[in-house]
Amino acid sequence: MTNTKNWIIRRARPADVSRMIPLLNKFIQENQILPRTEEDVYRTVREWVVAEAENTQIVGMGSLAIMAHDLAEIRSLVIHPNFQGWGIGRQIVEMLLAEAVFLHIGRIFALTRKPDFFLKLGFQLTRIEKLPRKVRRDCVFCPIFHACDEVALIIYGQDLALVDTSAGALGVSKNGKTPSPVAPLWVEANHEKIS
Ligand SMILES: CC(C)(COP(=O)(O)OP(=O)(O)OC[C@H]1O[C@@H](n2cnc3c(N)ncnc32)[C@H](O)[C@@H]1OP(=O)(O)O)[C@@H](O)C(=O)NCCC(=O)NCCS
Repeated sequence: MTNTKNWIIRRARPADVSRMIPLLNKFIQENQILPRTEEDVYRTVREWVVAEAENTQIVGMGSLAIMAHDLAEIRSLVIHPNFQGWGIGRQIVEMLLAEAVFLHIGRIFALTRKPDFFLKLGFQLTRIEKLPRKVRRDCVFCPIFHACDEVALIIYGQDLALVDTSAGALGVSKNGKTPSPVAPLWVEANHEKIS
């Protein structure tokens, strides 16, 4: 049987938040990501990218939190279980990285229990001690800071090439593949996956 999935990757809007929260809560309850409240998501909505399926369901999301002039963190990356493995996680990360490059942010990191996913996307292993701003801002308040099982990974803006979107470089890509160079966040991408 043919299974078709269509989605777009785009900036989040305030009107998305009520559809983002249930998916976020699922992963929070499973202890796969750190808690984010609805108020927090509204306040930071400009930081978020979502994947919206053609039935308007929000099936994935992630955010880019700016920590310093040259440092940002990819946070709260989650893909609906029915949509995992379709390339949506990669596309969301690429769009967040494009935003970081556009903002001239040189270092983008993630703390995760899924390091292999980020390694596939070009991140490299680092140590949390090399991210003192993160430690001062968040980690020291975490109850399991000294028993943290998350792995720190980082990617450098200089290793990412920004697409010239004047020619619509990211425009539309099929079969869940995005071009490897990244394109700015304001460009929306349509994706179709058929298996
Ligand atoms: C981890 C997660 C975000 C990946 O998203 P996804 O859309 O399923 O991943 P993609 O389909 O974009 O995968 C991109 C590549 O990473 C690989 N990959 C995906 N998840 C992986 C994992 N857990 N371990 C190793 N590789 C993984 C894929 O095989 C693919 O490789 P390919 O390009 O060689 O085919 C998703 O599984 C998820 O939401 N997990 C639960 C929440 C979570 O742990 N989030 C991370 C918190 S930072």
